[in-house]
Amino acid sequence: MEFRELLPRRRMVRHYAAQPVPRESIERVVGTVRRAPSAGYSQGQRLLVVTDERGRAEVVRCFEEGSWGGAPEDIEPWLESAPVHVLVCTREGDYHDRYRMPDKLDAGEEIEWPVPYWFVDAGAALMMILLAAIDEGLAAGVSGVPRDTADALRAAFGIPDDVEIVALVTVGVGAPDPGWSAITSRRTQPRRPEGESVRWERW
Ligand SMILES: Cc1cc2nc3c(=O)[nH]c(=O)nc-3n(C[C@H](O)[C@H](O)[C@H](O)COP(=O)(O)O)c2cc1C
Repeated sequence: MEFRELLPRRRMVRHYAAQPVPRESIERVVGTVRRAPSAGYSQGQRLLVVTDERGRAEVVRCFEEGSWGGAPEDIEPWLESAPVHVLVCTREGDYHDRYRMPDKLDAGEEIEWPVPYWFVDAGAALMMILLAAIDEGLAAGVSGVPRDTADALRAAFGIPDDVEIVALVTVGVGAPDPGWSAITSRRTQPRRPEGESVRWERW
């Protein structure tokens, strides 16, 4: 699909059809992480892909028992309906390792990090997944992960301490989600005017 066709279709979908997603499609979607940019080619992004029924139920449990709780009951099921859950994670240590290599040292020292590149790169990987899902004819949605849910996920899935969970991406065949659309920011907040988001030549 051409990028200009794909982009207008990019939106968070928070409800999925009870339809399996071919394994090869998922592999292509998550495989994009290897093409995502990363600072210094540190490649600190890590994905945990959960597709089996028990694992997905465990993800849902971790969210329900976490501080944000489960989804409202009178609305389309989001996490419960998703056939694929992808935890987008980052390993900060990969950045320190890479930037302590001779070609990256600044006056013999690791650079002073202007911003945490490990989170920047996780965001880039997340975007690749969102776009690749559309390219496969699928839909995707992102949920933040509160601290206590992240701890529960870490314990449930054996995620090492040096890997931080950045977000959950759900993927599947999109189903109507009018209830979510009505309450989530996309409909309740106006799009910021272009001139505010994008400035030309001088701030
Ligand atoms: C890092 C991140 C965290 C997000 N967390 C949530 C979330 O917890 N719950 C939710 O409903 N949407 C979440 N979203 C989706 C945003 O609400 C959504 O992208 C925004 O409202 C714009 O809508 P659109 O992506 O459909 O254009 C998140 C998006 C990002 C990038």
